[in-house]
Amino acid sequence: MYAKFCCSFLLFTLLIAVVGCSGETEDNTVTDPVPNTDADSETVPSTDSDDQPAEPTADETTKTDETPSDAGGTLADGSVLLGSTALTAGIPGEGDLTVAQIGAWLDSEDNHAPLAVTLPAGLAAGSAAIVIPEDNPLTRAKIELGRQLYFDRRLSADNTVSCADCHHPDEGFARHTQFGVGIDGQQGGRNSPISYNRILSGAQFWDGRADSLEAQAVGPIASPIEMGNTHEAAVATVGKIEGYKLQFDRIFSDGVTIDNVGRAIASFERAIVTGPSPFDHYEAFQRFAKLDEEDLKELLADDPELAAKYESLGDAKDKHPMSESAIRGRDLFFNKKINCAACHVGANLADEKYHNLGVGMSAEKPDLGRFEVTKVDADRGAFKTPTIRNVALSAPYMHDGGLKTLEEVVEHYNKGGMKNPNLSDKIVKLNLTDQQKADLVEFMKACTGAFPKIETERLPQ
Ligand code: HEC
Ligand code: HEC
Repeated sequence: MYAKFCCSFLLFTLLIAVVGCSGETEDNTVTDPVPNTDADSETVPSTDSDDQPAEPTADETTKTDETPSDAGGTLADGSVLLGSTALTAGIPGEGDLTVAQIGAWLDSEDNHAPLAVTLPAGLAAGSAAIVIPEDNPLTRAKIELGRQLYFDRRLSADNTVSCADCHHPDEGFARHTQFGVGIDGQQGGRNSPISYNRILSGAQFWDGRADSLEAQAVGPIASPIEMGNTHEAAVATVGKIEGYKLQFDRIFSDGVTIDNVGRAIASFERAIVTGPSPFDHYEAFQRFAKLDEEDLKELLADDPELAAKYESLGDAKDKHPMSESAIRGRDLFFNKKINCAACHVGANLADEKYHNLGVGMSAEKPDLGRFEVTKVDADRGAFKTPTIRNVALSAPYMHDGGLKTLEEVVEHYNKGGMKNPNLSDKIVKLNLTDQQKADLVEFMKACTGAFPKIETERLPQ
């Protein structure tokens, strides 16, 4: 039935394309934020387009209302819906995680089967850009092991700091401090970025110095200012905990190693994705909203499945409404003059590229960001574009945590960033009115969707 729906929707999409070509005058100052296959969009970043996240197909953008058919988060097509609580709710039971519970969990073959994944509505438009390394297939058992490690302070030298201490579910998977606060209260010079939607992201860190999530995950453990440990000591600690040893031995052929710690944590992070936001519900319905009333009536009368789709998308949009202000903000965000979407583009509203906005460039010794990795002059002061999804939950902002609110961020762009020799040519004075600034902020707030529920306590003893 799903396949059948896809076909009718494809036809429908084609129909819209035809209707769209038939001479209607469109306001072409706004680009369609749902990435499409028309290549004429100027908001697609103009530089080195070969490492662009792949364009989604119509098929993927239609996956907007999937609901799991069982409590394990499995969909009718056999894939698992990422963001399903089932993946991150921990091994069933209460209190400390016992060896017996772990044993029973590991005995279930289902927990070791490589998962095919479906992204939640909205994010699903980026399915073609999913990053899961071939040597680290996603399994339920690995996600669960990674969950335990992510919240386990015993990975740090003195049992005081876990990944979650700088990327906490209650603080938007970041932290409301300006800089990450690590072992002995030490601080680095960068703000803790978010650790969700990483499944759509290749290189990690503000400067992209880690090639993969796996490579990233083992870094903090040995960083003297973060978890202050050594990889050897962390592996020894984990290996001495029976519940962990059992899991590593069953999940990986070579048991407890630092690389396997990285693989497990990366798998857990790939399961943390943002659910559909008011923005996504609004966008999904636009396909219908754009149609002429007569055309729409005809289409719906001819196709009961499409009519049902129209109903359900309309309901979802009404249940999670975008305010008028947020809708205006959306139009500004994707407007070619204001052009936030020159960089905050694609399903995750992030181009995975590096740009200089002038943030922190007035410091005596500015953080040179991407330049430290590439030594290419043009990269001085450039940082990786962060996602706008759920950004309202993770203040403060920018690589230096120097902007406390979304209002301050918009003001930074309004001024045209901070002048410096490498300022991106996409950053220009905007002369926004107070209303427009407020609208942009409202739009960003409307990009907030649900996170999966995550068990934060149950760890092997
Ligand atoms: C002391 C605070 C702290 C701890 C502990 C910590 N992080 Fe981070 N994390 C940061 C900061 C700060 C950055 C950005 C550093 C940079 O870009 O140079 C970062 C970056 C990241 C990123 C990159 C996100 C992106 O958008 O590129 C991920 C993913 C991440 N951390 C996950 C983890 C995991 C997993 C752990 C545990 C193994 C962990 N962190 C431990 C503070 C911390
Ligand atoms: C030239 C590319 C580019 C454009 C255009 C752009 N951004 Fe950004 N955005 C970035 C980069 C890169 C960062 C991180 C910069 C840093 O930390 O130095 C960022 C950071 C942000 C942040 C902070 C996110 C966080 O987690 O810290 C928000 C919010 C944001 N941008 C919103 C906007 C809005 C709204 C617009 C349009 C008015 C816009 N951006 C235009 C590239 C861009």
